[in-house]
Amino acid sequence: MTVKPIRIAPSILSADFACLRDEIDMCRQGGADWIHVDVMDGQFVPNLTFGAKVIDAVKRCTDLPIDVHLMVIHPESYFEDFARAGATGLTIHAEATVHLQRHLSHIRSLGCRAGVAINPATSLDSVREVTDDIDLLLVMTVNPGFGGQAFIPASIDKIRRARRLLDESRSDADLEVDGGVARDTILQCRRAGADTFVAGNAIFSASRPSAEIGELKAAATELA
Ligand code: DX5
Ligand code: ZN
Repeated sequence: MTVKPIRIAPSILSADFACLRDEIDMCRQGGADWIHVDVMDGQFVPNLTFGAKVIDAVKRCTDLPIDVHLMVIHPESYFEDFARAGATGLTIHAEATVHLQRHLSHIRSLGCRAGVAINPATSLDSVREVTDDIDLLLVMTVNPGFGGQAFIPASIDKIRRARRLLDESRSDADLEVDGGVARDTILQCRRAGADTFVAGNAIFSASRPSAEIGELKAAATELA
């Protein structure tokens, strides 16, 4: 398998919504590759965030790909609206549905990249049968719901096993990690085989948020 370049996806969950356009411009200037949008419904996770209106607003601020992470039950109810609003990729949780394959193929039929996410307690077995149906596998490195949580160390071994699963399945899917990604955790994730890194708190709470994106890339490539 070819080693993919590092991609940083700032999560706007930690952005200042009073100046979202400036925050997104800052991400682009800092070298962000994607913008990560966390959709929460107050049911799958104990927090409520945003929907199609915000995806549409992000779309009008940037031409960067928009990586939408759905932490919701019945995710299929939102696919069409989110695709129309400008989502490039839609990632659904394996725990949120019993019809994972159907929903992943629905996402692709809308012209979006199909992603599947798994919580820290969820086995990789839950995605083993859908490796042909995904463009992205998201290994959660915190329990979803909030930004700014501590990275769960046992995730490293899971990322390594996820990498192996994708390679053995001859899948070209991206391997994304989300939660507690920062300068001190990103290199281990990269070494374990992740290529796409979501970061919220590490970027938006940094003293120089724009420069932090480059710092994360440097840390992941052992240049820091
Ligand atoms: C957590 C979200 C994350 C979150 C990451 O439920 O899925 O995308 O914004 O935030 P940090 O990087 O602060 O852990
Ligand atoms: Zn997320």
